[in-house]
Amino acid sequence: MEDKTIDLKPVARIISEYVHDYESNLIAILQQAQDKYGYLPKSVMKEISRLTDVPLTRVFGVVTFYSQFTLIPRGKHAVKICNGTACHVKGVDDVKERVKEYLNVVEGETTADYQFTLETVACIGTCFLAPVMMVDDRYFGKLTTDTVTDIVKEYSN
Ligand code: FES
Repeated sequence: MEDKTIDLKPVARIISEYVHDYESNLIAILQQAQDKYGYLPKSVMKEISRLTDVPLTRVFGVVTFYSQFTLIPRGKHAVKICNGTACHVKGVDDVKERVKEYLNVVEGETTADYQFTLETVACIGTCFLAPVMMVDDRYFGKLTTDTVTDIVKEYSN
């Protein structure tokens, strides 16, 4: 995804909601920008800096400090596979391998069509459903190597 193809008009709209105190609202501005673009392209950070007069180094510093921000394009859907102990015991490794094979990505990567980003996460608090994954905000439990691809497939359109 090339920066020059990115429409920067939404940045001004986002910033217009924070008329007075850009510096202390920088995180909120960046969150909204990331929601809009799916990640924070360099051109968007530059535009935020230009319109708010917050130095680009400061914008970049905040983006790299907080793990919620990402500088690389993310997929439309986040597939988060639990790597916690209970899930491990219940065979999540096989499930994860199946998803990696199906999506043709490794952990942390996004599919070529930008549909999915695959992540592994620490215990997500539903151990009784182990092995568990989340797709966006939904939980899926008692996964098997057969069911997991059907679930991911449902998000493919
Ligand atoms: S270990 Fe996977 S949900 Fe707790």
